[in-house]
Amino acid sequence: MNGHVLRLLKGKPRWTKNEENWHGAKALGSGGQGCAVLFVKVDPKSQMIVDRVVVKETYDMVGLPNKYSSTEPLEFYMSKRLSKKTNTVNIFAYRLNPGRDSYRMYMEYCALGDLTDKLEQPYRSRGLAFPEPYLWKLFLDLAQACEDMDNPVGEGLHKDSFIAHVDFKPENVFMCPPDKDNFPKYPIAKLGDFGGAMLSHPHERWLTHRDKTNRCFRTNGSVAPEVYRLGLDNGDPHEIPRRHRAPGLKLPRDPRVTTTTNVWNAGLIIGELMFREPLEAPKNHVVPPHKEDIWYYTARDEWIEKFNLCKDDNVSMPQYSARLKNLVMACLDYFPENRPTPAKLVELVKAAVNHHPIMSTADSLKPDLYNGRYDLDRSIRLIDEYPVHRSKNQDGDYDMADGASISFPSSYSAEAGAGESGSDEETGPEADFAAVDAMLGMIVQGFKQLWRNF
Ligand SMILES: Nc1ncnc2c1ncn2[C@@H]1O[C@H](COP(=O)(O)OP(=O)(O)O)[C@@H](O)[C@H]1O
Ligand SMILES: [Mg+2]
Repeated sequence: MNGHVLRLLKGKPRWTKNEENWHGAKALGSGGQGCAVLFVKVDPKSQMIVDRVVVKETYDMVGLPNKYSSTEPLEFYMSKRLSKKTNTVNIFAYRLNPGRDSYRMYMEYCALGDLTDKLEQPYRSRGLAFPEPYLWKLFLDLAQACEDMDNPVGEGLHKDSFIAHVDFKPENVFMCPPDKDNFPKYPIAKLGDFGGAMLSHPHERWLTHRDKTNRCFRTNGSVAPEVYRLGLDNGDPHEIPRRHRAPGLKLPRDPRVTTTTNVWNAGLIIGELMFREPLEAPKNHVVPPHKEDIWYYTARDEWIEKFNLCKDDNVSMPQYSARLKNLVMACLDYFPENRPTPAKLVELVKAAVNHHPIMSTADSLKPDLYNGRYDLDRSIRLIDEYPVHRSKNQDGDYDMADGASISFPSSYSAEAGAGESGSDEETGPEADFAAVDAMLGMIVQGFKQLWRNF
Protein backbone atom coordinates (compact mmCIF):
# COMPACT_ATOMS: atom_id res chain seq x y z
CA MET A 1 0.00 0.00 0.00
CA ASN A 2 1.53 3.34 -0.90
CA GLY A 3 1.78 6.32 1.45
CA HIS A 4 -0.90 8.23 -0.39
CA VAL A 5 -3.49 5.48 0.12
CA LEU A 6 -2.47 5.05 3.72
CA ARG A 7 -2.87 8.71 4.55
CA LEU A 8 -6.25 8.80 2.83
CA LEU A 9 -7.39 5.75 4.81
CA LYS A 10 -6.37 7.23 8.13
CA GLY A 11 -8.15 10.51 7.51
CA LYS A 12 -11.74 11.55 7.02
CA PRO A 13 -13.71 11.80 3.78
CA ARG A 14 -14.12 15.59 4.24
CA TRP A 15 -17.42 15.91 2.51
CA THR A 16 -19.99 16.17 5.28
CA LYS A 17 -20.10 18.42 8.34
CA ASN A 18 -19.90 15.86 11.08
CA GLU A 19 -17.56 13.05 10.24
CA GLU A 20 -16.84 11.69 13.69
CA ASN A 21 -18.36 8.33 12.87
CA TRP A 22 -16.83 7.97 9.42
CA HIS A 23 -13.78 5.72 9.12
CA GLY A 24 -11.43 4.75 6.32
CA ALA A 25 -12.18 1.05 5.81
CA LYS A 26 -10.21 -0.31 2.88
CA ALA A 27 -8.05 0.57 -0.08
CA LEU A 28 -9.85 -0.24 -3.32
CA GLY A 29 -7.23 0.40 -5.94
CA SER A 30 -4.65 2.84 -7.18
CA GLY A 31 -3.70 3.67 -10.73
CA GLY A 32 -1.57 6.21 -12.53
CA GLN A 33 -3.97 9.07 -11.78
CA GLY A 34 -4.88 8.50 -8.14
CA CYS A 35 -6.28 6.09 -5.62
CA ALA A 36 -9.69 5.03 -4.29
CA VAL A 37 -10.60 4.24 -0.71
CA LEU A 38 -13.83 3.13 0.97
CA PHE A 39 -15.12 5.08 3.97
CA VAL A 40 -17.88 3.73 6.20
CA LYS A 41 -20.10 5.40 8.74
CA VAL A 42 -20.47 3.31 11.88
CA ASP A 43 -23.37 3.82 14.26
CA PRO A 44 -21.69 4.26 17.66
CA LYS A 45 -24.47 2.44 19.50
CA SER A 46 -24.96 -0.63 17.36
CA GLN A 47 -21.46 -0.57 15.80
CA MET A 48 -23.12 -1.38 12.51
CA ILE A 49 -22.20 0.23 9.23
CA VAL A 50 -24.95 2.67 8.28
CA ASP A 51 -23.44 4.40 5.24
CA ARG A 52 -20.58 4.06 2.76
CA VAL A 53 -18.81 6.31 0.30
CA VAL A 54 -15.85 5.85 -2.02
CA VAL A 55 -13.31 8.67 -2.10
CA LYS A 56 -11.12 8.82 -5.18
CA GLU A 57 -8.21 11.23 -4.82
CA THR A 58 -6.03 12.26 -7.72
CA TYR A 59 -2.29 12.88 -7.65
CA ASP A 60 -2.70 16.10 -9.63
CA MET A 61 -5.34 18.28 -11.27
CA VAL A 62 -5.88 15.83 -14.11
CA GLY A 63 -8.68 17.01 -16.43
CA LEU A 64 -8.81 20.50 -14.87
CA PRO A 65 -9.52 23.11 -16.04
CA ASN A 66 -11.27 21.78 -19.13
CA LYS A 67 -13.33 23.24 -21.91
CA TYR A 68 -16.56 22.58 -20.04
CA SER A 69 -15.75 23.81 -16.58
CA SER A 70 -12.88 25.50 -14.78
CA THR A 71 -13.80 23.96 -11.44
CA GLU A 72 -15.45 20.62 -12.19
CA PRO A 73 -13.00 17.81 -12.91
CA LEU A 74 -13.70 16.25 -16.31
CA GLU A 75 -14.46 12.85 -14.75
CA PHE A 76 -17.04 14.46 -12.48
CA TYR A 77 -18.49 16.53 -15.30
CA MET A 78 -18.98 13.46 -17.54
CA SER A 79 -20.36 11.21 -14.80
CA LYS A 80 -22.85 13.88 -13.76
CA ARG A 81 -24.28 14.02 -17.27
CA LEU A 82 -25.36 10.38 -17.24
CA SER A 83 -29.02 10.25 -16.38
CA LYS A 84 -30.31 6.92 -15.16
CA LYS A 85 -27.25 5.61 -13.36
CA THR A 86 -28.55 2.07 -13.26
CA ASN A 87 -25.39 0.83 -14.94
CA THR A 88 -22.89 3.63 -14.43
CA VAL A 89 -21.23 4.48 -11.13
CA ASN A 90 -23.03 7.35 -9.42
CA ILE A 91 -20.79 10.26 -8.46
CA PHE A 92 -22.13 12.53 -5.69
CA ALA A 93 -19.68 15.38 -5.25
CA TYR A 94 -16.13 16.60 -5.70
CA ARG A 95 -13.79 18.79 -3.76
CA LEU A 96 -10.74 20.63 -5.05
CA ASN A 97 -7.56 21.03 -3.13
CA PRO A 98 -5.48 23.43 -5.23
CA GLY A 99 -2.92 23.72 -2.42
CA ARG A 100 -2.01 20.09 -2.94
CA ASP A 101 -2.71 20.10 -6.65
CA SER A 102 -5.31 17.35 -6.29
CA TYR A 103 -9.02 16.78 -5.85
CA ARG A 104 -11.36 14.22 -4.38
CA MET A 105 -14.49 12.72 -5.85
CA TYR A 106 -17.20 11.06 -3.80
CA MET A 107 -19.09 8.18 -5.31
CA GLU A 108 -21.21 5.13 -4.62
CA TYR A 109 -19.49 1.98 -3.46
CA CYS A 110 -19.54 -1.01 -5.79
CA ALA A 111 -19.03 -3.62 -3.12
CA LEU A 112 -18.05 -6.60 -5.23
CA GLY A 113 -14.93 -5.22 -6.93
CA ASP A 114 -14.20 -5.08 -10.65
CA LEU A 115 -14.99 -7.54 -13.43
CA THR A 116 -11.36 -8.50 -14.00
CA ASP A 117 -10.49 -9.35 -10.41
CA LYS A 118 -13.70 -10.92 -9.28
CA LEU A 119 -14.81 -12.87 -12.32
CA GLU A 120 -12.63 -12.82 -15.41
CA GLN A 121 -9.35 -13.85 -13.79
CA PRO A 122 -10.74 -16.56 -11.50
CA TYR A 123 -12.67 -18.10 -14.41
CA ARG A 124 -9.74 -17.90 -16.77
CA SER A 125 -7.20 -19.31 -14.32
CA ARG A 126 -9.43 -22.33 -13.65
CA GLY A 127 -10.35 -22.84 -17.29
CA LEU A 128 -14.05 -22.42 -16.52
CA ALA A 129 -16.81 -21.31 -18.89
CA PHE A 130 -19.32 -18.63 -17.88
CA PRO A 131 -22.96 -19.73 -17.90
CA GLU A 132 -24.73 -18.14 -20.88
CA PRO A 133 -27.49 -16.51 -18.78
CA TYR A 134 -24.80 -14.61 -16.88
CA LEU A 135 -23.32 -13.30 -20.13
CA TRP A 136 -26.75 -12.03 -21.19
CA LYS A 137 -27.16 -10.31 -17.85
CA LEU A 138 -23.76 -8.64 -18.18
CA PHE A 139 -24.50 -7.74 -21.81
CA LEU A 140 -27.74 -6.07 -20.70
CA ASP A 141 -25.92 -4.05 -18.02
CA LEU A 142 -23.24 -2.91 -20.48
CA ALA A 143 -25.79 -2.15 -23.22
CA GLN A 144 -27.74 -0.01 -20.77
CA ALA A 145 -24.53 1.82 -19.84
CA CYS A 146 -24.03 2.49 -23.59
CA GLU A 147 -27.58 3.78 -23.88
CA ASP A 148 -27.02 6.10 -20.94
CA MET A 149 -23.83 7.44 -22.54
CA ASP A 150 -25.86 8.05 -25.69
CA ASN A 151 -28.23 10.36 -23.81
CA PRO A 152 -26.24 12.73 -21.60
CA VAL A 153 -28.29 15.36 -19.80
CA GLY A 154 -27.37 18.90 -18.79
CA GLU A 155 -27.53 22.50 -19.84
CA GLY A 156 -25.82 23.67 -22.98
CA LEU A 157 -25.33 20.21 -24.48
CA HIS A 158 -25.79 19.74 -28.21
CA LYS A 159 -28.98 17.72 -28.76
CA ASP A 160 -27.07 14.78 -30.30
CA SER A 161 -24.35 14.76 -27.65
CA PHE A 162 -22.91 11.49 -26.47
CA ILE A 163 -20.13 10.35 -24.20
CA ALA A 164 -17.56 7.90 -25.50
CA HIS A 165 -15.88 6.16 -22.59
CA VAL A 166 -12.91 5.03 -24.74
CA ASP A 167 -11.22 3.21 -21.81
CA PHE A 168 -14.19 0.83 -21.57
CA LYS A 169 -12.57 -2.40 -20.33
CA PRO A 170 -13.19 -5.05 -17.65
CA GLU A 171 -11.05 -3.20 -15.03
CA ASN A 172 -13.47 -0.27 -15.28
CA VAL A 173 -16.59 -2.38 -14.92
CA PHE A 174 -17.49 -2.49 -11.23
CA MET A 175 -19.73 -5.05 -9.59
CA CYS A 176 -22.61 -4.41 -7.18
CA PRO A 177 -24.85 -6.76 -5.20
CA PRO A 178 -27.72 -8.29 -7.15
CA ASP A 179 -31.22 -6.95 -7.57
CA LYS A 180 -33.58 -9.44 -5.93
CA ASP A 181 -36.14 -9.24 -8.75
CA ASN A 182 -33.84 -9.18 -11.74
CA PHE A 183 -31.19 -11.88 -12.17
CA PRO A 184 -31.06 -12.25 -8.38
CA LYS A 185 -28.08 -14.62 -8.45
CA TYR A 186 -25.85 -12.40 -10.56
CA PRO A 187 -24.10 -9.15 -9.60
CA ILE A 188 -25.06 -5.86 -11.27
CA ALA A 189 -22.30 -4.38 -13.46
CA LYS A 190 -21.70 -0.62 -13.55
CA LEU A 191 -19.30 1.23 -15.78
CA GLY A 192 -17.01 3.64 -13.91
CA ASP A 193 -13.79 5.63 -14.27
CA PHE A 194 -14.83 8.35 -16.71
CA GLY A 195 -11.50 10.13 -16.18
CA GLY A 196 -10.45 9.54 -19.78
CA ALA A 197 -13.83 9.77 -21.51
CA MET A 198 -14.87 12.32 -24.15
CA LEU A 199 -18.04 14.30 -24.73
CA SER A 200 -18.88 14.84 -28.37
CA HIS A 201 -21.57 15.07 -31.04
CA PRO A 202 -21.69 13.88 -34.65
CA HIS A 203 -21.30 17.35 -36.15
CA GLU A 204 -17.84 17.92 -34.77
CA ARG A 205 -14.98 18.00 -37.22
CA TRP A 206 -12.87 14.87 -37.43
CA LEU A 207 -9.82 16.86 -36.34
CA THR A 208 -11.67 17.72 -33.13
CA HIS A 209 -12.38 14.02 -32.66
CA ARG A 210 -8.73 13.31 -33.21
CA ASP A 211 -7.66 15.87 -30.60
CA LYS A 212 -10.20 14.58 -28.12
CA THR A 213 -9.33 10.91 -28.53
CA ASN A 214 -5.66 11.72 -28.22
CA ARG A 215 -6.39 13.14 -24.79
CA CYS A 216 -8.46 10.11 -23.74
CA PHE A 217 -6.98 7.16 -21.87
CA ARG A 218 -6.66 4.17 -24.11
CA THR A 219 -5.70 0.64 -23.12
CA ASN A 220 -3.91 -1.46 -25.71
CA GLY A 221 -6.10 -4.33 -26.85
CA SER A 222 -9.34 -2.46 -26.02
CA VAL A 223 -9.17 0.24 -28.69
CA ALA A 224 -12.04 0.42 -31.19
CA PRO A 225 -10.92 0.67 -34.86
CA GLU A 226 -12.04 4.29 -35.35
CA VAL A 227 -10.28 5.42 -32.15
CA TYR A 228 -7.15 3.64 -33.33
CA ARG A 229 -7.35 5.23 -36.77
CA LEU A 230 -7.68 8.68 -35.25
CA GLY A 231 -4.40 8.06 -33.41
CA LEU A 232 -2.42 7.00 -36.48
CA ASP A 233 0.28 9.26 -37.86
CA ASN A 234 0.31 10.29 -41.47
CA GLY A 235 1.60 7.40 -43.55
CA ASP A 236 0.99 4.66 -40.92
CA PRO A 237 -0.40 1.70 -42.85
CA HIS A 238 -4.00 0.74 -42.23
CA GLU A 239 -6.45 -1.48 -44.08
CA ILE A 240 -10.02 -2.70 -43.81
CA PRO A 241 -9.87 -6.15 -42.12
CA ARG A 242 -10.00 -9.10 -44.49
CA ARG A 243 -13.45 -10.26 -43.35
CA HIS A 244 -15.00 -6.95 -44.41
CA ARG A 245 -13.26 -6.36 -47.71
CA ALA A 246 -15.49 -6.19 -50.79
CA PRO A 247 -14.94 -4.96 -54.33
CA GLY A 248 -15.24 -1.18 -54.46
CA LEU A 249 -15.31 -0.81 -50.67
CA LYS A 250 -12.89 1.91 -49.59
CA LEU A 251 -11.51 2.85 -46.22
CA PRO A 252 -13.77 5.71 -45.10
CA ARG A 253 -12.05 9.08 -44.87
CA ASP A 254 -12.17 11.12 -41.69
CA PRO A 255 -12.88 8.46 -39.03
CA ARG A 256 -15.15 9.58 -36.19
CA VAL A 257 -15.87 8.37 -32.73
CA THR A 258 -19.57 7.58 -32.47
CA THR A 259 -22.00 6.30 -29.98
CA THR A 260 -21.33 2.79 -31.31
CA THR A 261 -17.70 3.07 -30.26
CA ASN A 262 -19.01 2.15 -26.78
CA VAL A 263 -20.99 -0.71 -28.35
CA TRP A 264 -17.76 -2.12 -29.82
CA ASN A 265 -16.18 -2.17 -26.34
CA ALA A 266 -19.25 -3.76 -24.74
CA GLY A 267 -19.19 -6.53 -27.39
CA LEU A 268 -15.48 -7.10 -26.88
CA ILE A 269 -15.91 -7.60 -23.12
CA ILE A 270 -18.58 -10.27 -23.67
CA GLY A 271 -16.57 -11.89 -26.48
CA GLU A 272 -13.48 -12.09 -24.28
CA LEU A 273 -15.42 -13.85 -21.54
CA MET A 274 -16.65 -16.45 -24.06
CA PHE A 275 -13.55 -17.11 -26.09
CA ARG A 276 -10.48 -18.25 -24.21
CA GLU A 277 -8.02 -17.37 -26.93
CA PRO A 278 -5.32 -15.01 -25.60
CA LEU A 279 -4.08 -11.99 -27.55
CA GLU A 280 -1.12 -13.27 -29.53
CA ALA A 281 1.66 -11.64 -31.48
CA PRO A 282 0.41 -11.11 -35.02
CA LYS A 283 2.10 -13.33 -37.58
CA ASN A 284 4.69 -11.76 -39.90
CA HIS A 285 4.19 -8.43 -38.26
CA VAL A 286 7.15 -6.17 -37.64
CA VAL A 287 6.50 -3.65 -34.92
CA PRO A 288 8.13 -0.29 -35.44
CA PRO A 289 9.85 1.01 -32.29
CA HIS A 290 7.51 2.71 -29.75
CA LYS A 291 4.48 1.51 -31.65
CA GLU A 292 3.09 -1.17 -29.33
CA ASP A 293 -0.38 0.16 -30.07
CA ILE A 294 0.00 -1.08 -33.66
CA TRP A 295 1.07 -4.48 -32.37
CA TYR A 296 -1.92 -4.66 -30.05
CA TYR A 297 -4.37 -3.40 -32.61
CA THR A 298 -3.20 -6.01 -35.14
CA ALA A 299 -3.27 -8.74 -32.49
CA ARG A 300 -6.80 -7.75 -31.49
CA ASP A 301 -7.96 -7.72 -35.08
CA GLU A 302 -6.57 -11.25 -35.58
CA TRP A 303 -8.30 -12.27 -32.35
CA ILE A 304 -11.63 -10.98 -33.70
CA GLU A 305 -10.96 -12.78 -36.97
CA LYS A 306 -10.42 -16.02 -35.02
CA PHE A 307 -13.55 -15.44 -32.94
CA ASN A 308 -15.48 -14.99 -36.15
CA LEU A 309 -14.12 -18.22 -37.65
CA CYS A 310 -14.66 -20.22 -34.46
CA LYS A 311 -18.13 -18.98 -33.70
CA ASP A 312 -19.73 -21.49 -36.08
CA ASP A 313 -17.34 -24.43 -35.68
CA ASN A 314 -19.25 -26.15 -32.83
CA VAL A 315 -15.94 -26.88 -31.12
CA SER A 316 -14.52 -23.65 -29.79
CA MET A 317 -17.54 -22.26 -27.93
CA PRO A 318 -20.10 -25.09 -28.06
CA GLN A 319 -21.88 -24.02 -24.89
CA TYR A 320 -23.01 -20.68 -26.33
CA SER A 321 -25.93 -19.94 -28.62
CA ALA A 322 -25.50 -18.63 -32.16
CA ARG A 323 -27.62 -15.67 -31.09
CA LEU A 324 -25.07 -14.58 -28.47
CA LYS A 325 -22.04 -15.15 -30.71
CA ASN A 326 -23.62 -13.31 -33.63
CA LEU A 327 -24.55 -10.35 -31.47
CA VAL A 328 -20.96 -10.07 -30.20
CA MET A 329 -19.72 -10.08 -33.79
CA ALA A 330 -22.29 -7.44 -34.77
CA CYS A 331 -20.94 -5.17 -32.02
CA LEU A 332 -17.38 -5.81 -33.19
CA ASP A 333 -18.08 -4.77 -36.78
CA TYR A 334 -15.22 -2.68 -38.13
CA PHE A 335 -17.62 -0.06 -39.46
CA PRO A 336 -19.32 1.94 -36.67
CA GLU A 337 -22.44 2.51 -38.77
CA ASN A 338 -22.98 -1.25 -39.15
CA ARG A 339 -23.01 -1.93 -35.42
CA PRO A 340 -26.28 -1.87 -33.45
CA THR A 341 -26.94 1.52 -31.87
CA PRO A 342 -27.03 1.45 -28.05
CA ALA A 343 -30.85 1.52 -28.05
CA LYS A 344 -30.96 -1.29 -30.61
CA LEU A 345 -28.46 -3.31 -28.58
CA VAL A 346 -30.61 -2.98 -25.45
CA GLU A 347 -33.61 -4.08 -27.49
CA LEU A 348 -31.79 -7.11 -28.94
CA VAL A 349 -30.43 -8.23 -25.58
CA LYS A 350 -33.81 -7.81 -23.91
CA ALA A 351 -35.46 -9.83 -26.69
CA ALA A 352 -32.94 -12.63 -26.14
CA VAL A 353 -33.50 -12.57 -22.38
CA ASN A 354 -37.28 -12.65 -22.85
CA HIS A 355 -36.94 -15.53 -25.26
CA HIS A 356 -35.03 -17.59 -22.66
CA PRO A 357 -35.68 -15.93 -19.31
CA ILE A 358 -33.41 -18.39 -17.45
CA MET A 359 -32.15 -16.94 -14.14
CA SER A 360 -33.79 -13.58 -14.75
CA THR A 361 -36.61 -13.77 -12.20
CA ALA A 362 -36.85 -14.33 -8.46
CA ASP A 363 -37.83 -17.94 -9.23
CA SER A 364 -34.20 -18.73 -9.90
CA LEU A 365 -33.64 -18.56 -6.13
CA LYS A 366 -35.72 -21.72 -5.67
CA PRO A 367 -33.11 -24.33 -4.85
CA ASP A 368 -34.15 -27.03 -7.30
CA LEU A 369 -35.41 -24.97 -10.23
CA TYR A 370 -32.12 -25.10 -12.13
CA ASN A 371 -30.18 -27.19 -9.62
CA GLY A 372 -27.33 -24.73 -9.59
CA ARG A 373 -26.73 -25.33 -13.29
CA TYR A 374 -26.38 -21.66 -14.21
CA ASP A 375 -24.85 -20.43 -10.97
CA LEU A 376 -21.52 -18.68 -11.06
CA ASP A 377 -18.78 -21.06 -9.98
CA ARG A 378 -18.71 -21.73 -6.26
CA SER A 379 -15.09 -20.57 -6.09
CA ILE A 380 -16.19 -17.04 -6.96
CA ARG A 381 -16.26 -15.11 -3.71
CA LEU A 382 -18.71 -12.29 -4.16
CA ILE A 383 -17.99 -10.98 -0.73
CA ASP A 384 -17.55 -7.52 0.64
CA GLU A 385 -15.46 -7.79 3.78
CA TYR A 386 -13.13 -5.41 5.47
CA PRO A 387 -11.76 -4.46 8.80
CA VAL A 388 -13.16 -1.26 10.23
CA HIS A 389 -10.75 0.77 12.29
CA ARG A 390 -11.13 3.93 14.24
CA SER A 391 -8.31 6.29 14.91
CA LYS A 392 -8.11 8.52 17.97
CA ASN A 393 -5.58 10.64 16.23
CA GLN A 394 -6.66 12.21 12.98
CA ASP A 395 -3.64 14.47 12.57
CA GLY A 396 -2.56 12.42 9.61
CA ASP A 397 -5.31 13.80 7.46
CA TYR A 398 -5.06 17.14 5.79
CA ASP A 399 -7.80 19.60 5.26
CA MET A 400 -8.96 19.51 1.67
CA ALA A 401 -10.37 23.01 2.06
CA ASP A 402 -7.24 24.89 2.95
CA GLY A 403 -4.63 22.61 1.50
CA ALA A 404 -2.57 22.27 4.68
CA SER A 405 0.48 20.07 4.30
CA ILE A 406 0.51 16.44 5.36
CA SER A 407 2.08 15.14 8.51
CA PHE A 408 1.83 11.57 9.62
CA PRO A 409 1.12 10.93 13.26
CA SER A 410 4.08 9.40 15.08
CA SER A 411 1.81 6.80 16.55
CA TYR A 412 -1.42 5.36 15.38
CA SER A 413 -3.93 4.00 17.79
CA ALA A 414 -7.10 2.14 17.20
CA GLU A 415 -10.08 1.34 19.29
CA ALA A 416 -11.19 -2.17 18.86
CA GLY A 417 -14.90 -2.81 18.76
CA ALA A 418 -17.44 -1.53 21.22
CA GLY A 419 -15.69 -0.07 24.21
CA GLU A 420 -12.47 -2.05 23.92
CA SER A 421 -9.25 -0.15 23.42
CA GLY A 422 -6.36 -1.15 21.23
CA SER A 423 -2.78 -0.50 22.19
CA ASP A 424 -0.76 2.49 21.02
CA GLU A 425 2.42 1.56 19.26
CA GLU A 426 5.33 3.69 18.18
CA THR A 427 5.76 2.29 14.72
CA GLY A 428 5.67 3.65 11.19
CA PRO A 429 2.33 4.05 9.47
CA GLU A 430 2.72 1.04 7.20
CA ALA A 431 3.59 -1.41 9.98
CA ASP A 432 0.99 0.15 12.20
CA PHE A 433 -1.68 -0.36 9.69
CA ALA A 434 -0.90 -4.02 9.21
CA ALA A 435 -1.09 -4.50 12.98
CA VAL A 436 -4.41 -2.71 13.15
CA ASP A 437 -5.70 -4.81 10.29
CA ALA A 438 -4.71 -8.02 12.00
CA MET A 439 -6.25 -7.00 15.27
CA LEU A 440 -9.46 -5.69 13.81
CA GLY A 441 -9.85 -8.55 11.41
CA MET A 442 -11.07 -10.49 14.42
CA ILE A 443 -13.51 -7.99 15.82
CA VAL A 444 -15.42 -6.83 12.80
CA GLN A 445 -17.29 -10.04 12.11
CA GLY A 446 -20.46 -8.06 12.69
CA PHE A 447 -19.59 -5.72 9.84
CA LYS A 448 -18.90 -8.35 7.26
CA GLN A 449 -21.40 -8.29 4.50
CA LEU A 450 -21.76 -11.66 2.83
CA TRP A 451 -23.35 -11.76 -0.55
CA ARG A 452 -22.61 -15.37 -1.33
CA ASN A 453 -25.66 -16.71 0.44
CA PHE A 454 -28.02 -15.91 -2.41
N1 LIG B 1 -16.80 3.18 -6.60
C1 LIG B 1 -15.98 2.12 -6.49
N2 LIG B 1 -16.41 0.99 -5.88
C2 LIG B 1 -15.58 -0.08 -5.79
N3 LIG B 1 -14.32 -0.14 -6.26
C3 LIG B 1 -13.84 0.95 -6.87
C4 LIG B 1 -14.64 2.14 -7.01
N4 LIG B 1 -13.89 3.07 -7.65
C5 LIG B 1 -12.69 2.49 -7.89
N5 LIG B 1 -12.65 1.21 -7.42
C6 LIG B 1 -11.50 0.27 -7.52
O1 LIG B 1 -10.33 1.01 -7.73
C7 LIG B 1 -9.74 0.70 -9.01
C8 LIG B 1 -9.20 1.99 -9.64
O2 LIG B 1 -10.25 2.93 -9.78
P1 LIG B 1 -10.52 3.70 -11.14
O3 LIG B 1 -11.69 4.60 -10.93
O4 LIG B 1 -10.66 2.69 -12.24
O5 LIG B 1 -9.24 4.59 -11.26
P2 LIG B 1 -7.92 4.56 -12.19
O6 LIG B 1 -8.03 5.85 -12.94
O7 LIG B 1 -6.80 4.52 -11.22
O8 LIG B 1 -8.01 3.33 -13.08
C9 LIG B 1 -10.85 0.03 -9.81
O9 LIG B 1 -10.39 -0.87 -10.80
C10 LIG B 1 -11.67 -0.66 -8.73
O10 LIG B 1 -11.12 -1.93 -8.43
MG1 LIG C 1 -9.62 2.41 -14.02
